[in-house]
Amino acid sequence: MKHLIDIKDFSVEEINDLIKVAKNIIKSPDKYSHKCDGKILATLFFEPSTRTRLSFESAMLRLGGNVLGFSEASSSSVSKGESVADTIHVVGGYSDVIAMRHPKEGAPFVASVKSSVPIINAGDGGHNHPTQTLTDLLTISQEKGRLDNLTIGLCGDLKFGRTVHSLINAMLRYKNIKFVLISPDELKLPEYMIKVLESSGVEYIETNDIEEYMGDLDILYMTRVQKERFFNEQDYIRLKDYYILNLDKLKNAKKDLCIMHPLPRVNEISTDVDDDPRAAYFRQAEYGVYIRMALIMYMLGVK
Ligand code: NCD
Repeated sequence: MKHLIDIKDFSVEEINDLIKVAKNIIKSPDKYSHKCDGKILATLFFEPSTRTRLSFESAMLRLGGNVLGFSEASSSSVSKGESVADTIHVVGGYSDVIAMRHPKEGAPFVASVKSSVPIINAGDGGHNHPTQTLTDLLTISQEKGRLDNLTIGLCGDLKFGRTVHSLINAMLRYKNIKFVLISPDELKLPEYMIKVLESSGVEYIETNDIEEYMGDLDILYMTRVQKERFFNEQDYIRLKDYYILNLDKLKNAKKDLCIMHPLPRVNEISTDVDDDPRAAYFRQAEYGVYIRMALIMYMLGVK
């Protein structure tokens, strides 16, 4: 039985296969509409979500399966003090695969140790978000036609942004990738992720100026300042509008730049960018359904 806790749990071949299946689903969705008949996906969300939870549910419904679950810890027995391990033990008897989001780093891993069904990490604290990364990889592959030879700007909250951490871990395994890490000093990539970059030998630059390397970027991945991970409201207020991407800031950008954002957006991309063909973030949200369809099939061993 396979779990997906960290994007590195999957080999590059496995990821490339998932992308291939997702592209087939985009072309011929009808061929997949009964692939998971009779199967049940549980979505256990101990932390808020719109896209991740609903795209998982949409994915399972589009495969002919069923879904159950909860969207906040307060509506589950966790609010009575039940442990994650006990919740998972029980829900494993009600479902065939579990997608779980939790504010504590490592919680999905702990869940997977005791689980009788595959566990998918749908985001654990400021740590990892492997299914957003699969979504991001499908997006890059669709929009750029390749997953190698890319200069990727990661901008915003690189400290707490779990999508950034997982995306770096995934992209490191493709050829000729360069990272431009754009953040205020207080929200720089954590030391343990810098070590990952250093030991891989990949080229990277840190800056706090969003325009400095704009003309070099193939991808600009914007992120929200992760309010819920701040200890101090004042720090959040000071940093939340540090970057606001607008058309003016894009004046030196490549014509085929791909602008991504895992969403939700707060202020970090001005709405005037939305109509620019380079704005890929709403398409990205839609790709999330197709890659999760491919993922659910894979986790359930459905061909
Ligand atoms: C991200 C998350 O939850 O980490 N959103 C998502 O899954 N689409 C990013 C965020 O919340 O800022």
